[in-house]
Amino acid sequence: MKYFIAANWKMNKTIAETREFLRNFSPAVEKVTDVDIVIAPPFTALAAASDEIQDTNIQLAAQDIFWEEKGAYTGEISPRMLLEAGCRHVIIGHSERRQYFSEEDAIVNRKIKAAKKAGLGVIFCVGESLEEREAGKTFDVIKREIESGLAEIDPENLVVAYEPIWAIGTGKTATNEQAQEVHAYIRKILGNLYGNKAEDIRILYGGSVTPDNVDSLMACKDVNGALVGGASLKPESFARIVCFKKEN
Ligand code: 13P
Repeated sequence: MKYFIAANWKMNKTIAETREFLRNFSPAVEKVTDVDIVIAPPFTALAAASDEIQDTNIQLAAQDIFWEEKGAYTGEISPRMLLEAGCRHVIIGHSERRQYFSEEDAIVNRKIKAAKKAGLGVIFCVGESLEEREAGKTFDVIKREIESGLAEIDPENLVVAYEPIWAIGTGKTATNEQAQEVHAYIRKILGNLYGNKAEDIRILYGGSVTPDNVDSLMACKDVNGALVGGASLKPESFARIVCFKKEN
């Protein structure tokens, strides 16, 4: 299975900074063929990023989407706007959106439906909080998020990202064992929904991925890529992550 490694820049980088990043980053990864390389800049920098990645092996993603096609929805961005800006994928259900913008499972599901209808690939995020992990509820949370988020969704062009909230931006990465355990569980739940097709769904790990821990994380059986925040903001650092070394 081809790996999938995506940069989630969150609310970082202006248009000029995006262009500068890509001018340094593109040559550093131009020989990579066995990884889908994806960057998700803020909305304002998407068109400029699309321009910079012409004729490269880099793909563009948005960080969010709205489910309606157009209309009186101040501040929102439609699927067609994202396509026009050059996006092939969109991140949906990130824990920061769930936490700060009250995005519940039903909203996440609506957004996934709209993205897929428009032909966008979906990077669907799930993950438990520290409190939930300590209370032994990790699997329950993951199951609920997946079953609700993916209700009536087919598995084509779908990538699932496991991002334990306690590992995001904290420098506290999940151990390989913790990541593999949840990834295997996610694969099982996906199997209940999609049968054999679950084997082909890429499951990314996200949460303090760095050049130092990427090699061993990518060696875990059910880890098929990464969703990277902080360590994706510098071209050298993200290039090293994309060019991870395969461990046996
Ligand atoms: P960090 O890599 O900064 O922990 O962020 C992870 C993340 O939330 C990616 O979506």
